[in-house]
This record gives sequence, C-alpha cells and structure tokens, in this order.
Amino acid sequence: MLRAKITATGSYTPERILSNQDIEKIIDTSDAWITERTGIKERRIAYESQITSDLAYEASLIALKERNIDPLEIDLIIVATVSGDMPFPSTACILQKLLKAKNAVAFDINAACSGFIYAMSIANSFIKTHSFKKVLIVGVEVLSKFLDWSDRTTCILFGDGAGAAILEPSESESGILSTHIYSDGSLWDLIYLPGGGAKHPTSHQTVDNRLHYIKMKGNETFKVAVKTLENLVVETLKVNNLEPAQISLLIPHQANLRIIIATAKRLGIPMNKVFVNIDKYGNTSAASIPIALDEALKQGKIKKDDYILLEAFGAGLTWASALIRW
Ligand code: ACO
Repeated sequence: MLRAKITATGSYTPERILSNQDIEKIIDTSDAWITERTGIKERRIAYESQITSDLAYEASLIALKERNIDPLEIDLIIVATVSGDMPFPSTACILQKLLKAKNAVAFDINAACSGFIYAMSIANSFIKTHSFKKVLIVGVEVLSKFLDWSDRTTCILFGDGAGAAILEPSESESGILSTHIYSDGSLWDLIYLPGGGAKHPTSHQTVDNRLHYIKMKGNETFKVAVKTLENLVVETLKVNNLEPAQISLLIPHQANLRIIIATAKRLGIPMNKVFVNIDKYGNTSAASIPIALDEALKQGKIKKDDYILLEAFGAGLTWASALIRW
C-alpha cells in the first residue's frame, strides 16, 4: 500500500535564551510558579532581525542536507504557522524563494499547535494520490513577536523555533499509518489574536487596546485539552488495532507538562516512552512536534519498525494525531 514516509528531519531554534529568572525581572512571576504549572525552564527568542521564514529556512536546510537532495526536487512546500512573516503572501512562498525551490507549489496552513500534523495529513493525502513526490513540511513560529510582555498569563508560555520534515512515497510497511484531524470553531475564543485582521483592522485604537497580542483562557483550554487528547489517542490506537504498550514513543505537543503527564497517565503510557523538551523551548506551537521529532531521532530514541504516536491540540480549536511506523 502506498503511503508517505518521513525521509529526513531538521530543526532550528534561535540562539537567544530567555530563562524563567530573566522573566522574573520583567513581570510579577516566579521560576517556581512557571516550573510547577508548566514544566518550562527557558525558551528561545528570535532576534529582532530574525523572521519566521528565516527559522523555517534553517530547519529546512538541515532536512534537505540530511536527505542529500537539491531543493529543485521538492515539488510541494507546506508551512504550518500562525506567526508568518506577513498576512500575505504565505511564508511558504517566501521559503520557496529562500531555498530556490522554484519547482515547488507552496502554501501555508493555519491550525496553530496542531498545524504540523495537519500539514503531515495533507502531504500524506497528496502523496497517496500520486499528486506530489517530494514534500517539505515545516512547523514554524516566532510567537515572541506577538506576545504581550505585560501579561503574565501568556508571555511565560511561548517560544520560537522551527522543525522540518521531508515526506516521500513508500511502498513498504513503514510510513504514516493514519492521521486524524479535527476542529471546533465554537471554541475559537479560548486562544486568539484579535487585531490586524478584517475583524479589527490595525488602527491606533487596536494598538492602544493591545489587540495585536495573543489572548488565552488558559485554564478552560487546559481542561478541554486533557479530555480531547485522551479521546484522540484512544481513537488513533483503535483505528490501528494497537495497544498503548505497543507504542515505542509518544511525541506530544509541548504546551504544558501537566497536560502531557495527564494524557500519558490516562492512557497508561509510562513517561519513559514520552518525549519531553518543553523545559528547553516552552510552547513553540506548530514547531513543537517537528522539533521534538527531530530531537528524538537524533538522540537515537526512534528505531526501525517502532510505532510513534504524535498528538497536538491548539487554537481554533484544532486537534490532531498521527501514527507512524518508523
Ligand atoms: N506567574 C504567577 N502567577 C500566575 C501566572 C504567572 N505567570 N499566570 C497566572 N498566574 C496566577 C493567576 O493569576 C491565578 O491567580 P488567582 O488564583 O489569584 O486568580 C493563578 O495563578 C492560577 O491561574 P490559572 O490560569 O488557573 O493557572 P493554571 O494552573 O490553569 O495554569 C496555564 C495556567 C499554564 C496557562 C495552563 O492553564 C495551561 O497550560 N493551559 C493550556 C494552554 C494550552 O494548551 N494552549 C493550547 C496551545 S496554544 C496555541 O494554540 C497557540
């Protein structure tokens, strides 16, 4: 059966580190609160001169080099981001220019933290229908540029980064076994960025009212996330006729260590089979899964034939999972 297979990965995070202690100096918070409530110790912050496409470019170069292919061979680029260079054109088109991948169709998708798995799902469908052969998917965010650094309920959570993967057709047993993508727009106002769109075009008033920054009802989001992720993972296992014990590695979206632990516990997956790097990067939204996947691979935590489960939850609301046989 034809399916898509990940043939290379890459990730990039900016060198600049912002620790909890650094944030203590900016707002009324503490390392103890952030660590206990989120698991985050530090996050990466892009330099003023670095934009979304720059991070995407660095991660993509690493993946292309690993696969040893020319960018001209890429026929589709999908960038998952909610913090693109500009409202338009797409960051994918800018990335296509930077990579000189002029044979690729390029577009963005907006599914927040679930974006990378959405992109994987789209790429998988295109590959299965023989529409494209070498697909570059990237999850990338520079959310630091959209954070209200006077709002302690949001600014402590997010970080910047990018992760990339190359997907190609596979006739073997290994590859993407299933993807599951969902949305519930009725809960759009749990996490959103109100300003700068058609609803609130940028004006002095929208800036004065701080509408150009991320807003989140964290506690409500937390509760929906835990329940939704549990159901999602149960469904993913059932569709693939697998027991939790057969999963070699769970790679969850890194939003909150407590959400990660609660989901793993409800499923009976021990924490030594759960990949966690939230302490180093915070929540990098669409970049979180591909950065974690790349790190897990490079740390030798994924071996041939392993079953790898990816899951994410984010603004939209959106949620998504993927089951991969490596
Ligand atoms: N430092 C110190 N105190 C704080 C801070 C802070 N940084 N932030 C909030 N508090 C206080 C609150 O003011 C509140 O005080 P009060 O009880 O006196 O009113 C108290 O801490 C508890 O606040 P809660 O919001 O109830 O804290 P909670 O335990 O829910 O943790 C958090 C907040 C970390 C945001 C959590 O709710 C969370 O992780 N939510 C899920 C986020 C998520 O998954 N988002 C989806 C992806 S994001 C995307 O798609 C872009």
